[in-house]
Amino acid sequence: MNLRADTETRVRLRTNAKLNLLLSVAGRRPDGYHELESIFHGIGLGDDIYIELTSSGRVEVDMRMDAGLTGEIPASEENLASKVAESLLEHGAINPGVKIDILKRIPLASGLGGGSGNAAGVLLALKELWEMELDQSLILKIAGSIGSDVPYCIGGGTALATKRGEELTALPAPESMWFVLGISNEPLYTKDVYDRWDDLGQEGDAKSAPMTLALGVSDVDEVAALLHNDLEVAAFSLRPELRAKKELLLDAGALGAAMTGSGPTVYGIARDEEHALSVAKAVEADFDRVVTVSSSARCVELLD
Ligand code: C5P
Repeated sequence: MNLRADTETRVRLRTNAKLNLLLSVAGRRPDGYHELESIFHGIGLGDDIYIELTSSGRVEVDMRMDAGLTGEIPASEENLASKVAESLLEHGAINPGVKIDILKRIPLASGLGGGSGNAAGVLLALKELWEMELDQSLILKIAGSIGSDVPYCIGGGTALATKRGEELTALPAPESMWFVLGISNEPLYTKDVYDRWDDLGQEGDAKSAPMTLALGVSDVDEVAALLHNDLEVAAFSLRPELRAKKELLLDAGALGAAMTGSGPTVYGIARDEEHALSVAKAVEADFDRVVTVSSSARCVELLD
């Protein structure tokens, strides 16, 4: 995707969250990462990013939380944007100075890919503002060096991801599905969840073909029945209350439910907006935050 900066000195973006409709861990790799088979789906819950060229000679990143989000901004989250800038400087960018302001609506370390989306947005925007000639394969390579989910966020939508998560195939899917997100304020860190997966000696068992077919024919009931995340066993072992919280979404009438990414967010899938609102109402008191949201075809969007 190419972003067109409205002037040559600043750009405003929204970077949307993702859910994993399926996440299967195929095994541990010698480099410590895990081979995956995963289906990502973009949703319309987004952070806003404002990037402006300055004359400071520095990369300045400032992040703040939208009302309702709690906790401190960890330095590592701001670092992700700085890391993108540093990587582009290594690829020949010249930086007169840049200021990056991020307004977070996607909870941190929640399995919703907020930080990865921010990194993808900053990468695409700085490429334009710094007038760099980078072909798509180099953009994806830089994205992959920042984080496993960042290459997906360059495009967004619905995609099958394999290898570490960086090998992507776009998938046909219903234009809009409705989801209820059950958010817990206490973060879960991806590395801890994968480490627990290893400690438990688990083996993955899901395959993506049935889900790919269900998405392709827009059979939402079948999609709901096939939701699966191998990492649930590891995350639920670290945070036992999450198992019951997922069940609450099903008890409230969700067509299916799963954890996204390495958690702790669990979500339910609904027939339509009205159904999503009724599920959300029923589980409102059971989570720190409940959000109803529909699909989004892009992770990185240009704001006017
Ligand atoms: O790539 P990213 O920085 O998002 O990964 C965070 C951590 O999650 C890694 O350090 C690794 O422990 C784990 N991970 C993994 N296999 C993947 C993706 C992430 O083991 N495919």
